[in-house]
Amino acid sequence: MNRFSRIVGTGSALPGEPVSNDDLVERLAKLGVETSDEWIVTRTGIRQRHFAAPGVTSSQLGAEAARKALSAAGMEASEIDLIVVATSTPDHVFPSTACLVQKALDAPGGAAFDVHAVCTGFVYALASADAMIRAGIANRALVIGAEVFSRILDWKDRSTCVLFGDGAGAVVLAADTRPGVLAARLHADGRQGDVLCATGTISGGEVVGNPFLTMNGKAVFRLAVAVLDAVSRETVAAAGMTLEQVDWLIPHQANVRILDASAKRMGIPSERVVVTVDQHANTSAASVPLAFDRATRDGRIKSGQHVLLEGVGGGFTWGAALVRI
Ligand code: ACO
Repeated sequence: MNRFSRIVGTGSALPGEPVSNDDLVERLAKLGVETSDEWIVTRTGIRQRHFAAPGVTSSQLGAEAARKALSAAGMEASEIDLIVVATSTPDHVFPSTACLVQKALDAPGGAAFDVHAVCTGFVYALASADAMIRAGIANRALVIGAEVFSRILDWKDRSTCVLFGDGAGAVVLAADTRPGVLAARLHADGRQGDVLCATGTISGGEVVGNPFLTMNGKAVFRLAVAVLDAVSRETVAAAGMTLEQVDWLIPHQANVRILDASAKRMGIPSERVVVTVDQHANTSAASVPLAFDRATRDGRIKSGQHVLLEGVGGGFTWGAALVRI
């Protein structure tokens, strides 16, 4: 019997009230950092973001998104036998965020682990869970992207601190005889690690090195547009399809100019691109499942349609997955 995996429910979580660009401008001014709504909107398309209050963690946001995805799937947490959490801002060194989510859901027994591929994390996690389901290792998985990137931002560095937000998104992936995940392709180039990194470590009870994210924005821009185009074409070809057959493109929500440039290069019209970066900013591994949930709940994504999910980020990593709903 053929064995595939399908997405059967989605959910998301955003902490607190949205923080507008003007709110952020005011907060940063108090630190002596100058920026403007106009600069942020024209360079990035971002209008607002959410920040987790002190004490709110990736596992808490991930568990909230997971509960909503389970409810959408009509499933109980006890039916889940695999939890994969994509995050670069875990609650602890260990236990993993996935184990903390499992504990919060009171659903012990199945496998649980984190995937660390930064903004490509959700695509890596989805591809991993799909492979495990097809191999018969798991039957029903929660695949989650959850981040509190605000914790690793240098609020004195205006070229990065205006770009990111916190949040989580989740899907339930279930074994099925009909294909849902049609193809996935993952890549990395460790030689490009320094264009986007947070290199600090914990040693002897102290943070050693730079605890904040650093980025070469122009290099990220160039790399992102090129690799998203290549991996999208590779992934649809692996499924025996073409980009014209893709109903919705859900790219990692880094920056509206990267989204526009890569969709244009792929020949996908903007009406078929799901954009949430204006509302959520860049939530790293959470951005793709957050956008997926939004476009599912507002009725844009419909049964039978083809959705191409794309990720790109630190590592340098990139990947895509084509799914039939
Ligand atoms: N407010 C006001 N001015 C600013 C700000 C700010 N928040 N940040 C930078 N500037 C200033 C700079 O100081 C510089 O001033 P100067 O010319 O007087 O020196 C000027 O703006 C231009 O700075 P650049 O860095 O050259 O700005 P650029 O046009 O490259 O835009 C940006 C920066 C938006 C980061 C761009 O490089 C970009 O889109 N890169 C893609 C990277 C990205 O989106 N990363 C997200 C995370 S990575 C990921 O998720 C894959």
